This record gives sequence, C-alpha cells and structure tokens, in this order.
Amino acid sequence: MPPDYDIASPGAAELFESLRALGYDLPTAIADIIDNSISASARNVWIDMTWSGANSRVTIRDDGTGMTDDMLVNAMRPGSLSPLEVRAASDLGRFGLGMKTASVSQCRCLTVMSKTETTPPAIRRWDLDYIASTGTGEWRLLKGADLLAASDLCLLDEQRRGTVLFWDRLDHLVGNTSTDDEIAQKHFRERADAVRDHLAMVFHRFLRGRNAIRLHLNGRLVQPWDPFLEDSDTVDPMPAETLSANGEGVEVKVFILPHHTRISPEAHAAAAGPRGWNAHQGFYIYRNKRLLVAGDWLGLGFQKEEHFKLARIRIDLANSSDLLWQIDVKKSRARPPAALRRDLLRLARTARSQASSIYRHRGKIIQRSLGRSDVFLWNHVVKRGKTFYKINRDHPLVSKVLDTAEDKAPLRALLELIEQTVPAPLIVINNAETPDGFGRPFEDSPAQLTKAMDEVFRALIEDGHDKPDAARAIVAMEPFNLFPELVAVFLEGKAAEAAK
Ligand SMILES: Nc1ncnc2c1ncn2[C@@H]1O[C@H](COP(=O)(O)OP(=O)(O)O)[C@@H](O)[C@H]1O
Ligand SMILES: [Mg+2]
Repeated sequence: MPPDYDIASPGAAELFESLRALGYDLPTAIADIIDNSISASARNVWIDMTWSGANSRVTIRDDGTGMTDDMLVNAMRPGSLSPLEVRAASDLGRFGLGMKTASVSQCRCLTVMSKTETTPPAIRRWDLDYIASTGTGEWRLLKGADLLAASDLCLLDEQRRGTVLFWDRLDHLVGNTSTDDEIAQKHFRERADAVRDHLAMVFHRFLRGRNAIRLHLNGRLVQPWDPFLEDSDTVDPMPAETLSANGEGVEVKVFILPHHTRISPEAHAAAAGPRGWNAHQGFYIYRNKRLLVAGDWLGLGFQKEEHFKLARIRIDLANSSDLLWQIDVKKSRARPPAALRRDLLRLARTARSQASSIYRHRGKIIQRSLGRSDVFLWNHVVKRGKTFYKINRDHPLVSKVLDTAEDKAPLRALLELIEQTVPAPLIVINNAETPDGFGRPFEDSPAQLTKAMDEVFRALIEDGHDKPDAARAIVAMEPFNLFPELVAVFLEGKAAEAAK
C-alpha cells in the first residue's frame, strides 16, 4: 500500500522572495552567471550594465553551447540538478540554483534567451511581480518571443550559439530612481568598477594563456589580477605540496610576496588587490581554477596582521571536493575538512614566519644603520631611558659642511633645532596605521639621489679616503644601499671618469 501524504509544494512568490536573500552582491551574482558560461565552453562573455534610472538593465551574453527549449525550461527550475550529482570535471556549477538565485538577488525579472547550433532561440522568464500578482502560488514560467523587444531578440543573431540573460527591475541596485539622478548614476558606475575588480580576481586564471576567455565589461576587456605575481621574477614560491583528504587530492603552494621596496610603487599598489594588502593575506581557495576565497586564515586561529600580509597560499581543489569543503551556494565560502587541518596549520605557520621575517630583516637593517656612527646620518641615542635622534656630526657630508662654514654657530643651532623637533610621535602613529604608507627615500627622484651620492662621495674623498674606500662606504650607506642598481651605475661612472 502506498504511504498516505499531502502535497506541500512551496508557494512560488514566497520561495522566490526567500531565495533573493541568500547574500549575493552584484559582483558575486555576476560571477556566478559567468561560471555557467565557462562551463558551457564560452570563449567570450559580454556584460553590459546600462544606466536608465528605474529601467536600468544588466545583460550577460555568452557564445557557449547554449540550450534547447527543453534544456532551458529545466535550467530555469530552481534545483535543476542535485548537488549530489556527479559533474563534468570542468563544470563550475553545483547546486542547480546559481542562475536563478544570483539573478533574483539583483532583479525582479529574469529573462533568458538561448540557442544551440541546431535549435532556434528559446526564451523563458521568471517575473517575480507577475508571479505574486496571480495569487496562486504557481511556478508560472513565462515564454514567447513577445516578452522581448526587437532590439533584444536580435542579440544572438550574429552568433551560431549562445545564451543571454536580461536582468530587469534592478530594485536593489537602482530602485525607483529617475534617469537624471546623478548620485544614483554615480553609484551604478562605481558598482561596475566593483564588478570589474571582482571578475579580474575570481577568473584571473581563465583570463590568460592560449585558451583565455575574454570578459567584456561595458565594452572593455577585464584584465586578470594575479594575487601571486607569477609573471614577476620577484616571487619565488615554495614547491607545491599535494595533500590528501578522504581520497581527494589537494594541491597547496605557498607564495611570499616581495616587500614593497623590491617592486615599483605601481606594482605594489596593483598587487594589493580589491580589498587591500592586509585583507588579502592567507589562503586562496580555487575550485577548478575559479577563485572562491581570496585571502582567509580559514578559522585556523590566526589573525590578519600587517607583518604577515606578504603570505598568500594557494589551494587547488577539484569540483569533486565540494561537499568535503562545504562550498556554499554563493561560492564564496569553503571550509577545510578536519583531516587537513594539521597540514594546513603547518603550511600557514611556515608562510607566516617567512613573511614576517622579511619585516624582521628590514628592522635589523635599520637598527644596524642607526648603530654605525661613521656612515649613517641619524644616530639613535638613549639617555635616562628616553630616546633621542641625533644627526651624526661625523657623517662625511655633515662634517664637511661644518668644517667649511665660515660662521659655524647658526649651522650648529640649525642641526640642534632639527634634532630637538623630530616629529617622532607623529611618525610612530603614522607607521602603526599604515606601515607601507611611507615613501622610500628618493622614491620618485633618482636624479636627486645620485646628486646626494655624488656630494657624499666628494666629501669622503676630501676627508682623505681613497676611491675604493669611499665606494665601499657608499654601498653600505643609507639610503643608497636601497638602490644597488643606482649605486652600481654611479660607481661605474666614477671609474670611467678616473680612467679618462
Ligand atoms: N550560459 C549558459 N549556457 C548553457 N547552459 C547554461 C547556461 N547557464 C545555465 N545553463 C544550464 O542551466 C543549468 C542550471 O544553472 P545554475 O542554476 O547556475 O545551476 P548549476 O550551475 O549549479 O548547474 C546549468 O547546469 C546548465 O545546464
Ligand atoms: Mg551555475
């Protein structure tokens, strides 16, 4: 005998309203749609955000395999495929929800048009306002070419196959604003920038190489953001390790990024990432090369602190690990399985200790520089437990200026005044707030640096040093030691002068 039961399907309007609140934002929602395009072998995805007040629209179009009419109807069903289903290794989907949940998190009207190489465009629409207006709770999926304007219908005309999503009634993004609302329009533009930065990060491994996918956002190609600077020779990663949990292999690779003095200010700023250096330290989790988590210590008990920010650790998962790693619907969270915690802790400790050793090393250089009285301009003096900074009267340039001045009294008074008014408290505060906020000495003026180098060199010679001795002093001297390439060029120039 069959069991006794009632039918208890959810009301469409109510469930859709709940699905809207999964916690996507515009960038993560668009990324989830692009996952589908990539899984459908698209080479190009065109994302267009068109401002028109309350009628603003987002369209996402691809040239992937597309869907037949039946496939589209199935794809529109929430839960079109069970998360327990085995997926193709390249599939970026999991829950059979993304297209619907990501879309309705941003808009109240989702229309999809799709065609394959052998079938004409199919069109379906979820209209949340229409569904609520019927009062029936039915899952009425609208269809028919008259849903779209002629200018929309021709969007796939130029391609053999592909899919386009239209997001209309973007209530969270634009609400009821009028077309000439400048503040709303500015917000809309800024959101487009956030979308660009997010896509550049999430898909960076798809955006380069021979089979690169092109993402066109409002007509401009999205350029990849690589958190590991793999193209630069300033990073040498530790060898990758393969860990295994419950039969699933996971590749982990530690990268220690260069200190900001070792790369150009532009490269340093670009490497920071959308949320800044400090936020982007820790583990990066990729699933089929698609980034899920961009810098997190994964609940291993570590805090994000400035002196660890050069540590970035890459974890590569296959999509068969989804359940093990508790990937969420939004694909913005992953949790390591218990079996891997020990190994991840070990790798995190190694990475953190290496990253902080860079700052330790820099600290030592500075100590040494303040400790050696013959070469350094500033001396660190402790008197009665208090710290003072003194200008080194034996610094070649200082002693030269003092020796050659006709009236030494004002010069001495000036040095004294500078020493007594060093804004040390202010410097301490600024450094705590933004440790990398200080420019390198002579950062933007290599010519002035060379000039200063030349003056010090002359002073040393006049003081009786021979040239090799003077050169040795220059090489070790702050701040010239930060610019070995400029010192090399300068000393070569001196050698060439002498040879003439
Ligand atoms: N751009 C697209 N091109 C081809 N098929 C698509 C596209 N977007 C979605 N689909 C189909 O719709 C299905 C449902 O998508 P989605 O709701 O995102 O769930 P999931 O990606 O987890 O399967 C996909 O599995 C795919 O078959
Ligand atoms: Mg999907």
